[in-house]
Amino acid sequence: MAIQIKSANEIDKMRTSGIALRQVHNAVKAAVRVGATTMDLERAAVAKIEELGAISAFKGYHGYPAVLCTSVNNEVIHGIPHDRGALKSGDIVSVDCGVIIDGYYSDAAVTHAVGEISPAVAKLLRVTEASLYAAIDKAVVGGRLGDISNAVQVMCEREGYGIVREFVGHGIGRNMHEDPQVPNFGPAGKGPRLKAGMVLAIEPMINIGTADVKVLEDGWTAVTTDGSISAHFEHTVAITKDGPVILTR
Ligand code: MF3
Ligand code: CO
Repeated sequence: MAIQIKSANEIDKMRTSGIALRQVHNAVKAAVRVGATTMDLERAAVAKIEELGAISAFKGYHGYPAVLCTSVNNEVIHGIPHDRGALKSGDIVSVDCGVIIDGYYSDAAVTHAVGEISPAVAKLLRVTEASLYAAIDKAVVGGRLGDISNAVQVMCEREGYGIVREFVGHGIGRNMHEDPQVPNFGPAGKGPRLKAGMVLAIEPMINIGTADVKVLEDGWTAVTTDGSISAHFEHTVAITKDGPVILTR
């Protein structure tokens, strides 16, 4: 499938979706604390999604059972919310959520610190988020998709981090996953040319240790094979003639 170009009107609708999603993320963030379970975060998200009249983009997607993915510490992505144990000081939790409003999707993730985290983990969060913003800066008309991927790679490899390869960002619009795939590695100056009206979910997934991940028996939770800590940040970003517009800010 070719990369779809959205009209200004469609991008407005995606902004509406993105603003709602940010409110969900804010509600979840307010619930993150020592002693909370990831199911507490799920409940906060469910309540906010309902209040906003939005639809979860995740629940029921290939049978996924929740509106959030909550991935703790060595879990990379797609952790399923549960009540089997509480968050402790020093943990991190990556919260990924997507919603649909008026047929248009938005998708965003953030990794939260719980209580006091170690300097090494704090640095992982800073660098991963900074690599997302470096990538967003490359989401400009006339650039190449590889410029976005390479921006993440350069910033994270400089710190010796492992860049997850099995999972990638994606185009987004009337579906959660559209073309193109948006890897977090690869050469600059290569790949499709970026055009006004493209909308991308850019989402670095970065490990303190090696890049390798595996999926647990539950069929969803991706963890680092070496047990190292992993972070995930994601925004839905529109490419416009005036530059990148973060729809999930
Ligand atoms: N946010 C994820 C992505 O960007 C999708 C989550 S998978 C789901 O691809 F099953 F939880 F929906
Ligand atoms: Co995504």
